[in-house]
Amino acid sequence: MALFITFEGGDGCGKSTQANELVERLRKQKKWKVIPIEEPGGTLLGKMLREWLRGRERSLTRLPEEGTQFALLETMNNHSIPDILLHAAAPRAELLAFTIARSQLVEDVIIPNLVNNNVVVCTRYTDSTTAYQGYGRGLDLSLVKIANEIATKGIKPNLTILLDLAPDEALARRWGAKANIDDHFEEQVVDKLDFHQRVRQGYLELAEQEPERWLVIDATLSQDVISDKIWQRVSKLLPR
Ligand code: TYD
Repeated sequence: MALFITFEGGDGCGKSTQANELVERLRKQKKWKVIPIEEPGGTLLGKMLREWLRGRERSLTRLPEEGTQFALLETMNNHSIPDILLHAAAPRAELLAFTIARSQLVEDVIIPNLVNNNVVVCTRYTDSTTAYQGYGRGLDLSLVKIANEIATKGIKPNLTILLDLAPDEALARRWGAKANIDDHFEEQVVDKLDFHQRVRQGYLELAEQEPERWLVIDATLSQDVISDKIWQRVSKLLPR
């Protein structure tokens, strides 16, 4: 029996914890081979692209006024090529990078495991791209849809679990108390909050459009309550 489950939600909502918990519970049954994966890092190519994409945020504060490639090259003699390239991560470049990583993951990992009737539990998948590159970065949703189709060959999850969390709550979790947010970062934080509000809105709209595929859970609930809710729903998909 093949089963494909994905976890979605904003940064810091607890996806990985819950995905791990689900994998543990499934494995305890000793009935299926369970394959946990993470996007975008589930293949070597994905890992490389993830490093590139993650670097983007780290280096935003270092962007010079005249942010051309040449100005950047001059100021960044000590940096590796991928580090320089990441400054050019335009929304479409980002879309394509995630699409490349996912294409490889679908071919190498997801399809073969589903063909072998395994249970695949993936943290992030196409809905991340729609929420982040579409709703967040503002790319045309029809473009994002095409990219997702290219990457997945139409392979869709049986169930997608959204851990829904308000972005300011997520930031507070990451940085301790809200009051600790440094003034220096305030502008950046407000920008980020706006972005993450759009991402959250995107997720909620996607869930509304396909309620039978999505399970939306309030991520402020306790970890145990969340994992029980997930298990209740997943159990219904497992054969008796
Ligand atoms: P990661 O450190 O793996 O974060 P998380 O633990 O929250 O998943 O970084 C993944 C980042 O990439 C995260 O901010 C979401 C973003 N992302 C996209 O923008 N589009 C995508 O298609 C995917 C898979 C991730």
